[in-house]
Amino acid sequence: MIYLDNAATSYPKPESVYQRIDHILRHTGGNPGRSGHRMALDASRVIFEARESAARLFNIKNASRIVFTKNATEAINIAFKGILRQEEHVVTTSIEHNAVVKPLKRLEARGVQVTQLKVDKNGWVEPKDIEKAIRKETKLISVVHASNVFGAILPVAEIGRICRKKNVLFMVDAAQTAGAMPIDIEALNVDIFAATGHKSLFGPQGTGLLYVREGIEPLPFIDGGTGEDDELVEIPDRLESGTINTPGIGGLGAGIEFLLKEGVKKIRRYEEGLIRQILDGLSGIKGIEIIGPQDEKKRTHLVSFNMQGKDPSDIGYRLDNEFGIMLRCGLHCAPCAHRSAGTYPSGAVRVSPGYFNTADDIEEFLRGVREISCGF
Ligand code: ALA
Repeated sequence: MIYLDNAATSYPKPESVYQRIDHILRHTGGNPGRSGHRMALDASRVIFEARESAARLFNIKNASRIVFTKNATEAINIAFKGILRQEEHVVTTSIEHNAVVKPLKRLEARGVQVTQLKVDKNGWVEPKDIEKAIRKETKLISVVHASNVFGAILPVAEIGRICRKKNVLFMVDAAQTAGAMPIDIEALNVDIFAATGHKSLFGPQGTGLLYVREGIEPLPFIDGGTGEDDELVEIPDRLESGTINTPGIGGLGAGIEFLLKEGVKKIRRYEEGLIRQILDGLSGIKGIEIIGPQDEKKRTHLVSFNMQGKDPSDIGYRLDNEFGIMLRCGLHCAPCAHRSAGTYPSGAVRVSPGYFNTADDIEEFLRGVREISCGF
């Protein structure tokens, strides 16, 4: 079996992630930040260290501005719903995931104004179009770092500079890039950052994080948690109501430690090689249409494509059942992005290698696609 669905969730995880979760469940069973006994303190240390590691990975100066969430969707919802108010304006793109599109739609119904910028055929947004869309009510620019359909990496450095110049908050959805490429929050002028834990950060499912710069104080999305009065409780506790997922966050911490040790640049170079192999291989197969840029340096670790005259879900089914290749087909929870790509409603086939895949895995995948394209 060959797993090529790392954009949906990474598999396998580094061995240290399995070991850390097992160790926490067996030996660190206390409730962090609640009781004062040694097991509770050990659990608090797990959370503290995971926060510190995440801060190191993304060059975040103050680790306590990192809030652990259950995924990127929750992080994005906390940010939007905790910050945006009636009549304020947000600029975003037409290739966002539903995690961005749906909360903004709900907020639009409550009087928030939304501008959704169109992308070109490769899923690229021009920074100058973002600048033009800013008006006096604009509170926030929110962009996906790399689309989970096009794969294209957006010009976040330039957008960040524009936001700083115009005094507008800048939010990045890094679900498909966190851990897959170097990200420096300070250098990019990012104010709000959402990432999932279970993709390229190698944590387990049910983990994610939100970073909010000092001075930005979202209202809690879920009320409860520690302390008497919310005003007296600081971030991260204010936004982490209820008992936290200690084994999951410990596993995420181990995943991030693996990245710090291995080096994200090295991982990025390796995955670029696999993406180049996929792009070259697919380009040589008749009837294949690749979505997004042809240059692996302009992409994160995924390639979506279609085969003329074939339904994407049939291709996925056959790759799985006849060739043991696992990948994701359909709309990828991003119907807007597929509308922009012209692949709505059937979607596309998406192949997404990870650090533990090999060139042989990609060859086997290409063999499967070639055979399906020939109809045998
Ligand atoms: N949003 C994830 C994906 O693109 C689950 O597959």
